[in-house]
Amino acid sequence: MNNTAGKSAKFSLDLFRLDGRVALVTGAGVGLGRVFACTLATAGAKVVCADIDFATAQETVRQITAAGGLALALQVDVANEDAVANMVADTSAHFGALDILVNNAGIATPPLRVHEMPVADWDRLHRVNTRGVFLCTRAALPFMLPRKKGVVINIASIAGLGGVSPKTPAVAVNYSSSKAAVIGFTRQAAAEYGRDGIRFNAIAPGWHLGTQLGREAAPPSEQAIQAFAAALNEATPMGRTGDPEELAGLLLYLASDASSFVTGQVIAHDGGWTAW
Ligand SMILES: NC(=O)c1ccc[n+]([C@@H]2O[C@H](COP(=O)([O-])OP(=O)(O)OC[C@H]3O[C@@H](n4cnc5c(N)ncnc54)[C@H](O)[C@@H]3O)[C@@H](O)[C@H]2O)c1
Repeated sequence: MNNTAGKSAKFSLDLFRLDGRVALVTGAGVGLGRVFACTLATAGAKVVCADIDFATAQETVRQITAAGGLALALQVDVANEDAVANMVADTSAHFGALDILVNNAGIATPPLRVHEMPVADWDRLHRVNTRGVFLCTRAALPFMLPRKKGVVINIASIAGLGGVSPKTPAVAVNYSSSKAAVIGFTRQAAAEYGRDGIRFNAIAPGWHLGTQLGREAAPPSEQAIQAFAAALNEATPMGRTGDPEELAGLLLYLASDASSFVTGQVIAHDGGWTAW
């Protein structure tokens, strides 16, 4: 038997390595963003952890450096044009480049229906979830274009792909429309920058509990939380919600050369939620 049987002549697991690359993750202080930052560092990237809450970004950096990685904490409001410009300039000044941008920072407001929603909630959410993605990407591109190389990963949501039943009351139109906008942004930018060697993809997570995203809409009691979780399990083909750590593999795939011909795609990570 040929001892190379079953092996690709060219494929190497090193395609997933990010040694020497510089990554910037927004909203890296807690939740999915911390998972993304730690994942990129584990794969060898130098990681800037940016968050509006500086103390949490510092804690993510502490965890990365304790594991032997290289990271820098920055404070940023992704909706603030000057702060975003400074964040990207500081990234380049500190680590000498910017190869990977993960637009992860996002918020959710209470899940009120359209006719009940305060205009302030609409505006506040879109400033972060939509304007923030635009500002961070706009600021990062001038650092990627001259090198003809770059990866942008936008964190959308299954809520950007379809409506969510009011029986699982955790999603409002400001949130869904912002994530649909992120998906449209991803596809248009992929079309514009494909020939510049810059890839854009979106992850559409389903329900990954244990983060702070729902803090403004927390169910009123432990019993209500249990009922909510049970409803999510019931409505998901795999019969459970996701663990934030399970997103690490998909994020690394999209960030690395393992996905070198993938751009403009939206990949749901949802236990089959969007499959039926
Ligand atoms: N957890 C899920 O099930 C889920 C599902 C679908 C999509 N998402 C998306 O994933 C992303 C991360 O969500 P999460 O669940 O980890 O939420 P989270 O609330 O736990 O974390 C969000 C982080 O973003 C930061 N942030 C908020 N506003 C910011 C701003 N203006 N500037 C900079 N940083 C800011 C917060 O301080 C926090 O550290 C969001 O875009 C969210 O919409 C999450």
